[in-house]
Amino acid sequence: MRQEHFDTVILGAGAAGMMCAIHAGAYGGKVLIIDHAKAPGEKIRISGGGRCNFTNLGTSARNFISGNPHFSKSALGRYTPQHFIALIEKHGITYHEKTLGQLFCDHSAKDIITLLVKEMEQAGCHMRLATHCEHIEASQAGFVVTLGGESPAKITCRNFVVACGGKSIPKMGATGFGYQLATQFGLAITETRPGLVPLTFGEDVLAGFREIAGISAPARISCGKTGFEEALLFTHRGLSGPAILQISSYWRETNPIRVALCPKTDIGALLYQAKRANTRQTIQTALGEILPRRLVAHLAQTQEWGKILGETSDKKLAEIARFLQNWELYPIGTEGYRTAEVTLGGVDTNELNSRTMEAKKLPGLYFIGEVVDVTGWLGGYNFQWAWASGWAAGTAI
Ligand code: FDA
Repeated sequence: MRQEHFDTVILGAGAAGMMCAIHAGAYGGKVLIIDHAKAPGEKIRISGGGRCNFTNLGTSARNFISGNPHFSKSALGRYTPQHFIALIEKHGITYHEKTLGQLFCDHSAKDIITLLVKEMEQAGCHMRLATHCEHIEASQAGFVVTLGGESPAKITCRNFVVACGGKSIPKMGATGFGYQLATQFGLAITETRPGLVPLTFGEDVLAGFREIAGISAPARISCGKTGFEEALLFTHRGLSGPAILQISSYWRETNPIRVALCPKTDIGALLYQAKRANTRQTIQTALGEILPRRLVAHLAQTQEWGKILGETSDKKLAEIARFLQNWELYPIGTEGYRTAEVTLGGVDTNELNSRTMEAKKLPGLYFIGEVVDVTGWLGGYNFQWAWASGWAAGTAI
Protein backbone atom coordinates (compact mmCIF):
# COMPACT_ATOMS: atom_id res chain seq x y z
CA MET A 1 0.00 0.00 0.00
CA ARG A 2 1.20 3.52 -0.89
CA GLN A 3 2.78 5.36 2.08
CA GLU A 4 2.60 9.15 2.26
CA HIS A 5 3.05 12.00 4.69
CA PHE A 6 0.91 15.14 5.05
CA ASP A 7 1.00 17.82 7.73
CA THR A 8 -2.77 17.79 7.96
CA VAL A 9 -5.46 15.33 6.89
CA ILE A 10 -9.06 16.57 6.88
CA LEU A 11 -11.92 14.07 6.85
CA GLY A 12 -14.93 15.55 5.04
CA ALA A 13 -14.95 17.98 2.10
CA GLY A 14 -18.04 19.84 3.28
CA ALA A 15 -18.36 23.48 4.30
CA ALA A 16 -16.22 23.25 7.44
CA GLY A 17 -13.58 20.89 6.00
CA MET A 18 -12.96 22.96 2.87
CA MET A 19 -12.72 26.22 4.86
CA CYS A 20 -10.21 24.57 7.19
CA ALA A 21 -8.19 23.21 4.23
CA ILE A 22 -7.95 26.69 2.64
CA HIS A 23 -6.44 28.20 5.79
CA ALA A 24 -4.30 25.24 6.87
CA GLY A 25 -2.90 25.11 3.30
CA ALA A 26 -2.33 28.86 3.09
CA TYR A 27 0.03 28.72 6.05
CA GLY A 28 2.36 26.44 4.13
CA GLY A 29 1.50 22.99 5.44
CA LYS A 30 0.86 20.04 3.14
CA VAL A 31 -2.88 19.37 3.38
CA LEU A 32 -4.99 16.42 2.20
CA ILE A 33 -8.79 16.56 2.31
CA ILE A 34 -10.75 13.37 1.70
CA ASP A 35 -14.43 12.58 1.24
CA HIS A 36 -16.26 9.37 0.53
CA ALA A 37 -18.64 11.22 -1.80
CA LYS A 38 -17.84 11.63 -5.49
CA ALA A 39 -18.12 15.45 -5.28
CA PRO A 40 -17.22 17.99 -2.58
CA GLY A 41 -19.83 20.11 -0.79
CA GLU A 42 -22.92 18.08 -1.59
CA LYS A 43 -24.93 19.72 1.22
CA ILE A 44 -23.91 23.16 0.06
CA ARG A 45 -25.22 22.24 -3.40
CA ILE A 46 -28.72 21.38 -2.15
CA SER A 47 -28.90 24.05 0.54
CA GLY A 48 -31.25 27.01 0.52
CA GLY A 49 -33.32 25.53 -2.31
CA GLY A 50 -30.18 25.45 -4.54
CA ARG A 51 -29.18 29.04 -3.68
CA CYS A 52 -27.37 28.40 -0.37
CA ASN A 53 -28.29 30.62 2.55
CA PHE A 54 -24.56 31.01 3.23
CA THR A 55 -24.66 33.29 6.28
CA ASN A 56 -26.83 35.51 8.45
CA LEU A 57 -25.98 39.16 9.04
CA GLY A 58 -27.25 38.95 12.62
CA THR A 59 -25.14 35.95 13.67
CA SER A 60 -24.28 35.78 17.35
CA ALA A 61 -23.88 32.98 19.90
CA ARG A 62 -27.55 33.37 20.90
CA ASN A 63 -28.56 31.81 17.56
CA PHE A 64 -26.97 28.48 18.53
CA ILE A 65 -27.92 25.57 20.78
CA SER A 66 -25.05 23.97 22.67
CA GLY A 67 -24.26 22.42 26.05
CA ASN A 68 -22.05 25.50 26.51
CA PRO A 69 -23.74 28.61 25.05
CA HIS A 70 -20.41 30.53 25.23
CA PHE A 71 -18.33 28.00 23.28
CA SER A 72 -19.10 29.36 19.79
CA LYS A 73 -18.30 33.00 20.71
CA SER A 74 -14.57 32.86 20.01
CA ALA A 75 -14.76 31.44 16.47
CA LEU A 76 -17.89 33.41 15.53
CA GLY A 77 -16.36 36.64 16.86
CA ARG A 78 -13.14 36.21 14.91
CA TYR A 79 -14.60 34.92 11.61
CA THR A 80 -17.76 36.95 11.03
CA PRO A 81 -20.38 37.04 8.24
CA GLN A 82 -18.50 40.07 6.83
CA HIS A 83 -15.38 37.92 6.35
CA PHE A 84 -17.34 35.37 4.32
CA ILE A 85 -19.12 38.13 2.37
CA ALA A 86 -15.68 39.59 1.48
CA LEU A 87 -14.65 36.15 0.15
CA ILE A 88 -17.86 35.88 -1.90
CA GLU A 89 -17.33 39.37 -3.33
CA LYS A 90 -13.68 38.61 -4.17
CA HIS A 91 -14.99 35.80 -6.40
CA GLY A 92 -17.63 38.04 -8.00
CA ILE A 93 -20.55 36.03 -6.59
CA THR A 94 -23.65 38.20 -6.31
CA TYR A 95 -26.11 37.71 -3.49
CA HIS A 96 -29.20 39.13 -1.86
CA GLU A 97 -30.84 39.33 1.55
CA LYS A 98 -34.08 37.37 1.52
CA THR A 99 -35.42 38.09 4.99
CA LEU A 100 -34.23 38.37 8.59
CA GLY A 101 -30.56 38.90 7.61
CA GLN A 102 -30.43 35.69 5.53
CA LEU A 103 -28.02 35.99 2.57
CA PHE A 104 -28.50 33.79 -0.53
CA CYS A 105 -26.58 33.47 -3.82
CA ASP A 106 -28.36 35.22 -6.70
CA HIS A 107 -27.42 32.45 -9.10
CA SER A 108 -26.54 29.05 -7.62
CA ALA A 109 -25.14 27.33 -4.52
CA LYS A 110 -22.65 25.69 -6.89
CA ASP A 111 -20.86 29.06 -7.11
CA ILE A 112 -19.86 28.64 -3.45
CA ILE A 113 -18.49 25.14 -4.05
CA THR A 114 -16.49 26.44 -7.03
CA LEU A 115 -15.14 29.26 -4.83
CA LEU A 116 -14.03 26.86 -2.09
CA VAL A 117 -12.43 24.41 -4.52
CA LYS A 118 -10.56 27.25 -6.27
CA GLU A 119 -9.30 28.61 -2.94
CA MET A 120 -8.15 25.12 -1.91
CA GLU A 121 -6.26 24.72 -5.20
CA GLN A 122 -4.59 28.11 -4.72
CA ALA A 123 -3.55 27.05 -1.21
CA GLY A 124 -2.00 23.89 -2.70
CA CYS A 125 -4.37 21.42 -0.98
CA HIS A 126 -4.75 17.89 -2.27
CA MET A 127 -8.27 16.49 -2.51
CA ARG A 128 -9.23 12.82 -2.84
CA LEU A 129 -12.87 11.93 -3.42
CA ALA A 130 -14.60 8.53 -3.25
CA THR A 131 -12.13 7.82 -0.45
CA HIS A 132 -12.84 6.94 3.15
CA CYS A 133 -10.97 6.47 6.39
CA GLU A 134 -10.67 2.77 7.24
CA HIS A 135 -8.58 3.09 10.34
CA ILE A 136 -6.87 5.77 12.36
CA GLU A 137 -4.60 5.58 15.35
CA ALA A 138 -2.55 8.06 17.30
CA SER A 139 1.23 7.72 16.99
CA GLN A 140 4.17 9.51 18.58
CA ALA A 141 4.40 12.00 15.72
CA GLY A 142 0.65 12.45 15.24
CA PHE A 143 -1.61 9.95 13.49
CA VAL A 144 -1.47 6.99 11.12
CA VAL A 145 -4.47 6.89 8.82
CA THR A 146 -5.44 4.02 6.52
CA LEU A 147 -7.50 5.17 3.55
CA GLY A 148 -9.77 2.94 1.48
CA GLY A 149 -11.88 3.44 -1.63
CA GLU A 150 -10.50 4.94 -4.85
CA SER A 151 -7.23 6.15 -3.29
CA PRO A 152 -6.06 3.51 -0.79
CA ALA A 153 -2.97 4.63 1.14
CA LYS A 154 -1.30 4.60 4.52
CA ILE A 155 -0.78 8.18 5.61
CA THR A 156 1.09 9.71 8.49
CA CYS A 157 0.12 13.22 9.59
CA ARG A 158 0.68 15.65 12.44
CA ASN A 159 -2.91 16.94 12.49
CA PHE A 160 -6.16 15.13 11.84
CA VAL A 161 -9.33 17.20 11.42
CA VAL A 162 -12.75 15.56 11.73
CA ALA A 163 -15.17 17.54 9.54
CA CYS A 164 -17.56 14.80 8.49
CA GLY A 165 -20.78 16.44 9.67
CA GLY A 166 -23.69 14.85 11.50
CA LYS A 167 -26.29 12.19 10.79
CA SER A 168 -28.82 14.31 8.87
CA ILE A 169 -29.85 13.10 5.44
CA PRO A 170 -27.98 9.79 5.11
CA LYS A 171 -28.93 9.81 1.40
CA MET A 172 -26.54 12.77 0.99
CA GLY A 173 -23.62 10.85 2.52
CA ALA A 174 -24.08 11.60 6.25
CA THR A 175 -22.67 8.78 8.36
CA GLY A 176 -22.20 9.97 11.93
CA PHE A 177 -18.64 8.59 11.61
CA GLY A 178 -17.24 11.64 13.40
CA TYR A 179 -18.97 10.61 16.65
CA GLN A 180 -17.40 7.16 16.32
CA LEU A 181 -13.95 8.72 15.97
CA ALA A 182 -14.54 10.99 18.98
CA THR A 183 -15.52 7.94 21.05
CA GLN A 184 -12.48 6.03 19.80
CA PHE A 185 -10.24 8.80 21.16
CA GLY A 186 -12.11 8.95 24.48
CA LEU A 187 -14.00 12.22 23.88
CA ALA A 188 -17.52 12.60 25.31
CA ILE A 189 -20.51 13.00 23.01
CA THR A 190 -23.70 14.78 24.03
CA GLU A 191 -27.01 13.20 23.01
CA THR A 192 -27.62 13.57 19.26
CA ARG A 193 -31.08 14.07 17.72
CA PRO A 194 -32.59 15.50 14.54
CA GLY A 195 -32.99 19.31 14.41
CA LEU A 196 -34.66 21.74 11.99
CA VAL A 197 -37.12 19.01 11.08
CA PRO A 198 -40.91 18.79 10.48
CA LEU A 199 -43.05 17.61 13.41
CA THR A 200 -45.44 14.67 13.11
CA PHE A 201 -48.83 14.15 14.77
CA GLY A 202 -51.23 11.36 15.68
CA GLU A 203 -54.17 10.43 13.48
CA ASP A 204 -56.62 12.52 15.57
CA VAL A 205 -54.77 15.77 14.72
CA LEU A 206 -53.72 14.71 11.22
CA ALA A 207 -57.29 14.07 10.13
CA GLY A 208 -57.89 17.82 10.58
CA PHE A 209 -54.69 18.83 8.76
CA ARG A 210 -55.21 16.74 5.61
CA GLU A 211 -57.76 19.05 4.02
CA ILE A 212 -55.49 22.04 4.54
CA ALA A 213 -52.19 20.40 3.55
CA GLY A 214 -50.09 22.82 1.50
CA ILE A 215 -51.48 25.94 3.18
CA SER A 216 -49.04 28.29 4.87
CA ALA A 217 -49.84 31.02 7.41
CA PRO A 218 -47.90 33.51 9.55
CA ALA A 219 -47.56 32.17 13.10
CA ARG A 220 -45.70 32.29 16.34
CA ILE A 221 -44.78 28.77 17.46
CA SER A 222 -43.48 28.33 20.97
CA CYS A 223 -42.29 25.55 23.21
CA GLY A 224 -41.65 26.47 26.82
CA LYS A 225 -40.06 29.91 26.86
CA THR A 226 -38.73 29.78 23.30
CA GLY A 227 -40.75 31.01 20.35
CA PHE A 228 -40.30 31.88 16.67
CA GLU A 229 -42.42 34.06 14.40
CA GLU A 230 -42.23 32.82 10.84
CA ALA A 231 -44.39 30.85 8.41
CA LEU A 232 -46.20 27.66 9.42
CA LEU A 233 -47.01 25.00 6.81
CA PHE A 234 -49.70 22.30 7.13
CA THR A 235 -48.66 19.00 5.53
CA HIS A 236 -50.07 15.47 5.11
CA ARG A 237 -47.67 14.26 7.83
CA GLY A 238 -48.05 17.15 10.27
CA LEU A 239 -46.54 20.63 10.49
CA SER A 240 -43.55 22.14 8.73
CA GLY A 241 -42.39 25.59 7.51
CA PRO A 242 -39.65 27.76 9.02
CA ALA A 243 -41.42 28.39 12.38
CA ILE A 244 -41.86 24.65 12.97
CA LEU A 245 -38.32 23.75 11.86
CA GLN A 246 -36.99 26.34 14.32
CA ILE A 247 -39.03 25.10 17.27
CA SER A 248 -38.27 21.43 16.45
CA SER A 249 -34.72 22.01 17.74
CA TYR A 250 -36.16 22.94 21.16
CA TRP A 251 -39.05 20.45 21.28
CA ARG A 252 -38.68 17.25 23.35
CA GLU A 253 -40.97 14.20 23.38
CA THR A 254 -44.18 14.68 25.41
CA ASN A 255 -43.90 18.52 25.32
CA PRO A 256 -46.73 20.50 23.72
CA ILE A 257 -46.17 23.32 21.24
CA ARG A 258 -48.28 26.47 21.15
CA VAL A 259 -49.47 28.01 17.91
CA ALA A 260 -50.61 31.62 17.55
CA LEU A 261 -51.77 32.48 14.03
CA CYS A 262 -51.11 36.06 12.85
CA PRO A 263 -49.25 36.88 16.07
CA LYS A 264 -48.83 40.54 15.16
CA THR A 265 -52.59 41.10 14.80
CA ASP A 266 -55.10 41.63 17.60
CA ILE A 267 -57.67 39.30 16.02
CA GLY A 268 -60.31 40.12 18.65
CA ALA A 269 -60.09 43.85 17.85
CA LEU A 270 -60.14 43.10 14.12
CA LEU A 271 -63.38 41.11 14.45
CA TYR A 272 -65.11 43.74 16.65
CA GLN A 273 -64.21 46.49 14.17
CA ALA A 274 -65.40 44.42 11.22
CA LYS A 275 -68.69 43.77 13.05
CA ARG A 276 -69.17 47.46 13.74
CA ALA A 277 -68.35 48.39 10.14
CA ASN A 278 -70.64 45.80 8.53
CA THR A 279 -72.89 43.46 10.50
CA ARG A 280 -73.73 41.47 7.32
CA GLN A 281 -70.07 40.52 6.78
CA THR A 282 -69.22 36.85 7.47
CA ILE A 283 -66.56 35.79 9.98
CA GLN A 284 -64.78 34.03 7.14
CA THR A 285 -64.54 37.20 5.05
CA ALA A 286 -63.22 39.22 8.00
CA LEU A 287 -60.57 36.60 8.84
CA GLY A 288 -59.79 36.12 5.14
CA GLU A 289 -58.15 39.57 5.27
CA ILE A 290 -55.31 38.20 7.39
CA LEU A 291 -55.34 34.40 6.86
CA PRO A 292 -55.55 32.15 3.77
CA ARG A 293 -59.23 31.77 2.81
CA ARG A 294 -59.05 27.96 2.50
CA LEU A 295 -57.71 27.73 6.03
CA VAL A 296 -60.41 30.04 7.39
CA ALA A 297 -63.15 28.10 5.57
CA HIS A 298 -61.85 24.83 7.03
CA LEU A 299 -61.67 26.22 10.57
CA ALA A 300 -65.09 27.88 10.33
CA GLN A 301 -66.57 24.53 9.35
CA THR A 302 -64.80 22.37 11.92
CA GLN A 303 -65.19 24.86 14.78
CA GLU A 304 -68.85 25.56 13.91
CA TRP A 305 -68.48 29.32 13.97
CA GLY A 306 -71.67 31.21 13.12
CA LYS A 307 -71.80 32.87 9.73
CA ILE A 308 -72.64 36.54 10.03
CA LEU A 309 -70.74 38.92 12.35
CA GLY A 310 -73.98 40.67 13.33
CA GLU A 311 -75.38 37.39 14.65
CA THR A 312 -72.25 36.52 16.63
CA SER A 313 -71.86 37.80 20.19
CA ASP A 314 -68.73 39.74 21.20
CA LYS A 315 -68.00 36.92 23.65
CA LYS A 316 -67.98 34.40 20.80
CA LEU A 317 -65.71 36.69 18.73
CA ALA A 318 -63.25 36.85 21.64
CA GLU A 319 -63.43 33.05 21.84
CA ILE A 320 -62.62 32.72 18.13
CA ALA A 321 -59.66 35.10 18.52
CA ARG A 322 -58.38 33.12 21.50
CA PHE A 323 -58.75 29.87 19.58
CA LEU A 324 -56.73 31.20 16.62
CA GLN A 325 -53.93 32.48 18.82
CA ASN A 326 -53.70 29.80 21.45
CA TRP A 327 -53.67 26.26 20.07
CA GLU A 328 -51.91 23.67 22.12
CA LEU A 329 -50.73 20.70 20.08
CA TYR A 330 -48.87 17.55 21.07
CA PRO A 331 -46.50 16.31 18.33
CA ILE A 332 -45.78 12.59 18.49
CA GLY A 333 -42.35 12.88 16.89
CA THR A 334 -40.29 14.33 14.07
CA GLU A 335 -39.58 13.17 10.52
CA GLY A 336 -36.13 12.15 11.81
CA TYR A 337 -32.72 12.28 10.14
CA ARG A 338 -34.29 11.49 6.76
CA THR A 339 -35.32 15.15 6.38
CA ALA A 340 -33.63 16.96 9.31
CA GLU A 341 -31.38 19.82 8.17
CA VAL A 342 -29.03 19.36 11.10
CA THR A 343 -28.01 17.08 13.97
CA LEU A 344 -28.31 18.54 17.46
CA GLY A 345 -25.68 17.52 20.01
CA GLY A 346 -22.33 15.99 19.11
CA VAL A 347 -18.76 16.21 20.35
CA ASP A 348 -18.97 17.73 23.83
CA THR A 349 -17.60 21.28 23.74
CA ASN A 350 -15.86 20.66 27.09
CA GLU A 351 -13.50 18.39 25.16
CA LEU A 352 -12.38 21.12 22.73
CA ASN A 353 -10.42 24.37 22.86
CA SER A 354 -12.90 27.03 21.67
CA ARG A 355 -10.16 29.12 19.97
CA THR A 356 -8.65 26.28 17.96
CA MET A 357 -11.23 23.44 18.02
CA GLU A 358 -8.39 21.10 19.07
CA ALA A 359 -9.14 18.20 21.43
CA LYS A 360 -7.80 19.03 24.89
CA LYS A 361 -6.91 15.38 25.49
CA LEU A 362 -5.10 14.78 22.23
CA PRO A 363 -3.10 17.59 20.57
CA GLY A 364 -3.33 17.48 16.77
CA LEU A 365 -6.91 16.15 16.73
CA TYR A 366 -9.57 18.72 15.71
CA PHE A 367 -13.37 18.65 15.37
CA ILE A 368 -15.19 21.33 13.33
CA GLY A 369 -18.63 22.05 11.88
CA GLU A 370 -21.78 20.09 12.56
CA VAL A 371 -20.05 17.17 14.33
CA VAL A 372 -19.51 19.51 17.31
CA ASP A 373 -22.29 20.16 19.84
CA VAL A 374 -23.08 23.59 18.34
CA THR A 375 -26.27 23.80 16.26
CA GLY A 376 -27.61 26.95 14.67
CA TRP A 377 -31.13 28.16 14.03
CA LEU A 378 -32.53 28.07 10.53
CA GLY A 379 -31.33 31.02 8.45
CA GLY A 380 -27.67 30.67 7.43
CA TYR A 381 -26.31 30.24 10.96
CA ASN A 382 -25.15 26.65 10.44
CA PHE A 383 -22.98 27.54 7.48
CA GLN A 384 -21.58 30.51 9.41
CA TRP A 385 -20.59 28.07 12.17
CA ALA A 386 -19.01 25.74 9.59
CA TRP A 387 -16.97 28.63 8.08
CA ALA A 388 -15.98 30.05 11.49
CA SER A 389 -15.01 26.76 13.14
CA GLY A 390 -13.18 25.63 9.96
CA TRP A 391 -11.30 28.93 9.91
CA ALA A 392 -10.46 28.68 13.63
CA ALA A 393 -8.90 25.22 13.20
CA GLY A 394 -7.26 26.02 9.84
CA THR A 395 -5.52 29.14 11.15
CA ALA A 396 -4.47 27.42 14.37
CA ILE A 397 -2.83 24.47 12.59
P1 FDA B 1 -21.22 18.56 5.87
O1 FDA B 1 -22.29 17.57 6.10
O2 FDA B 1 -21.48 19.71 5.00
O3 FDA B 1 -19.93 17.84 5.27
C1 FDA B 1 -19.48 16.61 5.75
C2 FDA B 1 -18.74 15.90 4.66
O4 FDA B 1 -18.16 14.71 5.20
C3 FDA B 1 -19.65 15.46 3.53
O5 FDA B 1 -19.10 15.90 2.31
C4 FDA B 1 -19.70 13.94 3.64
O6 FDA B 1 -19.79 13.30 2.39
C5 FDA B 1 -18.38 13.63 4.31
N1 FDA B 1 -18.40 12.38 5.10
C6 FDA B 1 -19.32 11.99 6.00
N2 FDA B 1 -18.97 10.81 6.53
C7 FDA B 1 -17.80 10.44 5.93
C8 FDA B 1 -16.96 9.32 6.06
N3 FDA B 1 -17.24 8.32 6.90
N4 FDA B 1 -15.84 9.26 5.29
C9 FDA B 1 -15.55 10.28 4.41
N5 FDA B 1 -16.32 11.38 4.26
C10 FDA B 1 -17.42 11.46 5.03
N6 FDA B 1 -27.36 25.58 6.64
C11 FDA B 1 -27.32 26.91 6.40
O7 FDA B 1 -26.65 27.64 7.13
N7 FDA B 1 -28.01 27.44 5.33
C12 FDA B 1 -28.76 26.68 4.48
O8 FDA B 1 -29.32 27.17 3.48
C13 FDA B 1 -28.85 25.29 4.76
N8 FDA B 1 -29.65 24.48 3.99
C14 FDA B 1 -29.68 23.13 4.24
C15 FDA B 1 -30.49 22.32 3.43
C16 FDA B 1 -30.51 20.95 3.65
C17 FDA B 1 -31.42 20.09 2.82
C18 FDA B 1 -29.70 20.38 4.66
C19 FDA B 1 -29.67 18.89 4.88
C20 FDA B 1 -28.90 21.19 5.46
C21 FDA B 1 -28.89 22.57 5.27
N9 FDA B 1 -28.12 23.41 6.08
C22 FDA B 1 -28.11 24.76 5.83
C23 FDA B 1 -27.23 22.86 7.12
C24 FDA B 1 -25.80 22.76 6.56
O9 FDA B 1 -25.82 22.06 5.34
C25 FDA B 1 -24.85 22.06 7.54
O10 FDA B 1 -24.95 22.66 8.80
C26 FDA B 1 -23.42 22.14 7.03
O11 FDA B 1 -23.33 21.54 5.77
C27 FDA B 1 -22.46 21.46 8.00
O12 FDA B 1 -21.18 21.52 7.44
P2 FDA B 1 -20.08 20.41 7.78
O13 FDA B 1 -18.93 20.72 6.89
O14 FDA B 1 -19.89 20.30 9.22
O15 FDA B 1 -20.76 19.04 7.32
